[in-house]
Amino acid sequence: MALDFVKVDITHAGVTPDLAAAARCNELLHTGKGAGNDFLGWVSLPSSVPGLDILRREAERLRSQGVVVVVGIGGSYLGAKAVIEALKNPFAEPDVIFAGHNLSGDYAHDLLNALEERDFSVVVISKSGTTTEPAIAFRMLRDLLNRRYGEHAKERIVAVTDGSRGALKTMADNEGWPTYVIPDDVGGRYSVFTPAGLLPIACAGIDIGQLIDGAQEMESLCAGNGGPAAVYAAMRNALYAKGKKIEILASYEPKLQYIAEWWKQLFGESEGKHGRGIFPASVNYTADLHSMGQYIQDGERIMFETVLSVSRKLSDVPVMRDEEDLDGLNFIAGRSLNDINRIAEEGVRMAHVDGGVPNIRLELMELSAKSIGALLYFFEKACGISGYMLGVNPFDQPGVEDYKRNMFKLLGKPGY
Ligand code: PA5
Repeated sequence: MALDFVKVDITHAGVTPDLAAAARCNELLHTGKGAGNDFLGWVSLPSSVPGLDILRREAERLRSQGVVVVVGIGGSYLGAKAVIEALKNPFAEPDVIFAGHNLSGDYAHDLLNALEERDFSVVVISKSGTTTEPAIAFRMLRDLLNRRYGEHAKERIVAVTDGSRGALKTMADNEGWPTYVIPDDVGGRYSVFTPAGLLPIACAGIDIGQLIDGAQEMESLCAGNGGPAAVYAAMRNALYAKGKKIEILASYEPKLQYIAEWWKQLFGESEGKHGRGIFPASVNYTADLHSMGQYIQDGERIMFETVLSVSRKLSDVPVMRDEEDLDGLNFIAGRSLNDINRIAEEGVRMAHVDGGVPNIRLELMELSAKSIGALLYFFEKACGISGYMLGVNPFDQPGVEDYKRNMFKLLGKPGY
């Protein structure tokens, strides 16, 4: 049951959430009576997602042609990156690599060098079809594909974009590339369960059926009064009202680092508006205890911590015994590393709560496609509810355009 995929523990948050208000906001998401109601397609996406088999077959075809380069940025990048990082062995040769999420010449140069010796295909993802970073990377990769594979290059390009508009859609139609659609009513940061997320995830060999199953179960659980998503959303808002302006998402599993990056975009872009919104930050423990630990324990008291903790571990190793014991660690010899990590989490929570950092604990059942699917939907639902509780439209991003205008002006783009 999804009930077990993500459990919300607010024992150490120290404030009382307004669950009735959260339930009312959840209702707005379902009735479509709130702001941004033309972008609510994601609410029922897991239970209505079409064409998984088509995506699986496309992914198999691409995988059989070598490494898959996924080109995209923001919502057209982070969902897939987050799921793949959470579920794949970080030390294995990657099936999928990413491009178009920065403007670094150095990154592009290294990528082209890496592709010199390897067969590859490209999945280019852009809802608008006009975003600068992926468009530049795609030009470069298309050129390499054309030079290397000639007329067969088109068998190595797949586009994920709008159903009818945009430069990418026009190019795909002109060139005859297979094209998958990001629905009009699903914004970029809510698009992980559309082909924008699902195709790259399938290309990495991850079971997208399981991912959707988990999301579906969470969708049912968060209907009605909003379930665990409403509890989390209400608690964040209660803490914000008490002056806690920063939320730190902390995890003790390095594989969850990009879940935090995806979460930051989801909440930051959805809530940071009109001088309001919790600033979403993240840390990776225990590494960041050695860098950010001091500030969190003892700096400005304007933050709360949400700890994403995994209960069932996939594997483990014990601490070795050493005859000389010069490092003095034999007192924990034989104990499991996961057990020590769990104790670190408990010790840090006690210290941070004592130091004035309220704690929300999200217990993720395990690192599986099903629980990650449930977790992502849980966060999406919580974000929609939380944005409405805060009094903003969680589905637009007017501020994102400002830097683009300035950049184009400085670059001398006609019309700017
Ligand atoms: O959430 C958003 O809308 C943005 O982060 C977009 O996903 C990002 O700018 C990429 O846009 P596009 O998919 O149109 O290239």
